[in-house]
Amino acid sequence: MSATTPTRAGAAVRVAGLGVRLPDRVVTNDDLAKVMDTSDEWIRSRTGIRQRHVAAPGEATSDLAAAAARAALDDGGFEVADVAAIVVATTTPDHTVPGTAPLVAARLGSQAAAFDINAACSGFLYGLRLAAGMTATGDGAVLVIGAETLTRIVDPGDRSVAVLFGDGAGAVVLVPDDAASFGPFSLGADGTQPSMLWTAAGGTRRPFDAVVLEEGSHYLTMRGGDVYRNAVARMAQASREVLEQAGLKVSDVDLFIGHQANVRILDAVASRLGLAPERNHVSVDRHGNTSAASIPLALADARDQGRLHDGDTVLLAAFGAGLTWGAGLLSWKGAS
Ligand code: UT7
Repeated sequence: MSATTPTRAGAAVRVAGLGVRLPDRVVTNDDLAKVMDTSDEWIRSRTGIRQRHVAAPGEATSDLAAAAARAALDDGGFEVADVAAIVVATTTPDHTVPGTAPLVAARLGSQAAAFDINAACSGFLYGLRLAAGMTATGDGAVLVIGAETLTRIVDPGDRSVAVLFGDGAGAVVLVPDDAASFGPFSLGADGTQPSMLWTAAGGTRRPFDAVVLEEGSHYLTMRGGDVYRNAVARMAQASREVLEQAGLKVSDVDLFIGHQANVRILDAVASRLGLAPERNHVSVDRHGNTSAASIPLALADARDQGRLHDGDTVLLAAFGAGLTWGAGLLSWKGAS
């Protein structure tokens, strides 16, 4: 640790409930190869993805979010009335107005504070940071949900993006706990190159109209190579920062849960950090890139595999459109 960096402790907060919802329909790489010029071999070798879940017609982000939230509440033995605030991280809201979180709250039967965060694939990490602060300073239990239906905003005929994304939701309930440590976090953003990963039209800069429809410029596009390089560099940098702030070494990390976009990105981050490969948890093979939902889905996947134990140091890292990025540490003392 450098002489100028004071050690920062995490907040006295823990994850007391964890739940997910994945849509029923599974689409394999071979399924995609039947409808576009791609192959299982290309998708697996470039991304590690084998399959993804796809929302049913009429199934929206709030449906997945509410189901994941309900599962997280049940997991921790909470009543809806226990929750002081509901944060939904999403980049695929049901509507431009209102936010998705109030819809989720209504589905749960809550009138607690409810608001969205859009930090793209980093949204869940941003939401955790905010919610940990709220919980630690007296708000009580906060529900943080990452939920997406990315397949709704990709051009189903554009093989460069359509094969990458999936739908799903994951949620955690954060509660105060003097014996727990949640953080520190390092978050950052650089909005100077938004077109690296964006929907060019359909917002207020260029509203949706017949020309946009004709062009298909409301669909998600990205410069994959640039995103890849930035993702590796930023996730590794933010991870180093939080480890340094906490006074920990990479060998202290029991499990790394990075944003699940591409297994090659996760491997490259782990390699840059000097993290043992077996500590790098991978679920992108089964979920695809679910943006803000990917970290809670991966966390639940790791728990299901028996990879989370009380006292474990878990390193989270994310990168997404914006650009946005971040990392955070938590000492797992949670729903098991
Ligand atoms: O959530 C955060 C944001 N997203 C990411 O983190 C994703 C970051 N980027 C990536 O993961 C990778 O850049 C990709 C997986 C998107 C692409 O991998 P790549 O190794 O960078 O491939 P490429 O873009 O250089 O494409 C190589 C070739 C091209 O053909 P030519 O021009 O070399 O003939 C593409 O047209 O692969 C072609 N290609 C495909 N072929 C079969 C692109 N998509 C496909 C496809 N199937 N689905």
